Amino acid sequence: MKIVHISDLHLSGSNFVSEWGENVIDIMHSIYPELVVVTGDLTDDGYVYEYEIAKRYIDRIKTKNIIIVPGNHDVRNEGYKIFEEIFQTRFPCYKNEKFVVLGIDSTEPDIDDGHVGRENYEYIQKKLSVEGKIKILAMHHHLIPIPGTGRERNIPVDSGDVLKLCVELGVTFVFSGHKHIPWIWKLENTYFITAGTATSRRLKGRSHPSFNMIEVEEEKAILKEINVVNEDVKEILRINLPKF
Ligand SMILES: [Fe+2]
Ligand SMILES: [Fe+2]
Repeated sequence: MKIVHISDLHLSGSNFVSEWGENVIDIMHSIYPELVVVTGDLTDDGYVYEYEIAKRYIDRIKTKNIIIVPGNHDVRNEGYKIFEEIFQTRFPCYKNEKFVVLGIDSTEPDIDDGHVGRENYEYIQKKLSVEGKIKILAMHHHLIPIPGTGRERNIPVDSGDVLKLCVELGVTFVFSGHKHIPWIWKLENTYFITAGTATSRRLKGRSHPSFNMIEVEEEKAILKEINVVNEDVKEILRINLPKF
């Protein structure tokens, strides 16, 4: 079973590279994942015309299921209202026999900083208090600082509490974006996976645009990074899953 994690497409911005966008569509077509998780920043400023561009692109992605959470760029200019109109909810959830994936909105309108909020902890707890499944929490902002990205900023103001919650709930993976560079941290039994930007020129140094894929087999999960420019697939990590 394959899950794709893609982020920071910035589809309507001047730094969007359409050739990379087409590569993503083609690669996705050959993967045909069970689920695509999009961790925000589909637009640059959350305007209606940008959402229309984003929606047209998202509809072309070949996948069985998709869940999308907004990024700080998407909620600018009341974009969070348009997000809900187009993608229904800022807190999507997907479940099957193997997984439960919960998306949460970590943004605040017109502020780049992340914020999950105490009022959402109970909801996260309720949705992810399940036994015998891989649990994934998806949100735009990173919960742990990412190296090589300068002075730390925009991390959720309540990241300490959210980290504690993830560890206590035994969340398997936390997916995030925002920093435009891929990275992984492990804390206790939780892997915090940040995806790079898939289609924007806003890259750190000479890094390349990329997205992630997790292949789940019987007792292990394999994390792979896909280079959007040359379509190379690199194995990043093999994880032994707990026996359910
Ligand atoms: Fe971004
Ligand atoms: Fe962002």
